[in-house]
Amino acid sequence: MSIQGKSLLDLKSLSAEQLLSFFDRARSLKETKMWRPHRFLAGLVFLESSTRTTGSFQVAVHRWGGQTVVVSGSTSSVTKGESVLDTCLTLQSFGSDLLIVRHGSDESLASIARQLKIPVINAGEGVAGHPTQGLLDAFTIQEARGGIRGERILVVGDTKHSRVASSALEVFTQLGAEVASSGPLVWKRDDLRYFDRLEQGLEWATVVMSLRVQKERHMGQDSSTTDLMLPYQLNSQTLRHFRSDGVILHPGPFNRGIELTDEVLLDARCCIWKQVENGVFIRAAVIAEILGLT
Ligand code: CP
Repeated sequence: MSIQGKSLLDLKSLSAEQLLSFFDRARSLKETKMWRPHRFLAGLVFLESSTRTTGSFQVAVHRWGGQTVVVSGSTSSVTKGESVLDTCLTLQSFGSDLLIVRHGSDESLASIARQLKIPVINAGEGVAGHPTQGLLDAFTIQEARGGIRGERILVVGDTKHSRVASSALEVFTQLGAEVASSGPLVWKRDDLRYFDRLEQGLEWATVVMSLRVQKERHMGQDSSTTDLMLPYQLNSQTLRHFRSDGVILHPGPFNRGIELTDEVLLDARCCIWKQVENGVFIRAAVIAEILGLT
């Protein structure tokens, strides 16, 4: 089923065929670097901070020949009390052909999308999901390991508060991978197999994805929660338990010295900068499928 003209709010409602079609399109763009120019306007509403997602969406739109109008939380009229919906309606009235929205408010993006005439891409919604991040993570695994089916993916850290974990779980399981978690018990998800000891999880896994400690979502908790992460840190000692042809991921932004150490970024198994690179191609593929760009 084509996604043309539709919103991308989550991954669980997409078929494996549709997910793989994003990968095919991303791979083709990456290999051929063929960007036929199109005229369109993408409205970016980023009400929570971002570097990778906002930057790569802008690069992707510009590569396609489109234009962007960007509204950021700290400088927008949201600070004067305007709602997310009214911000989106404003960008729609500018003539945007699609909206790319990140927000953490109580307004649901699905409800906002129903009140708009143009498609919406979820660029990160509270803890609910971050679909294009899940897609680029899975695409990076496919590239590095040759496929997703049968892979054993260990997600490490704050799985409870991570929207990346929510979307990654949707796409990894849909494409036939096994997923498990390891990390502080207080951040454990009940829907995943759990390894109390990181080393055991690393011995089981073919792919390990560490997550940032989501301090901004730990309302009322002690700020020293980052210390909880140290027994689950990826470093040269713990990675001795990980296979030589495995893949190391982190969606970013990462905190050196907390989730991982400097040497991890130099490890031959590390694909973290590949994830960033692939973000442009996956987002370009999603935009192309939604707008019907050829
Ligand atoms: N992974 C991710 O969403 O990064 P940004 O917050 O920098 O966009």
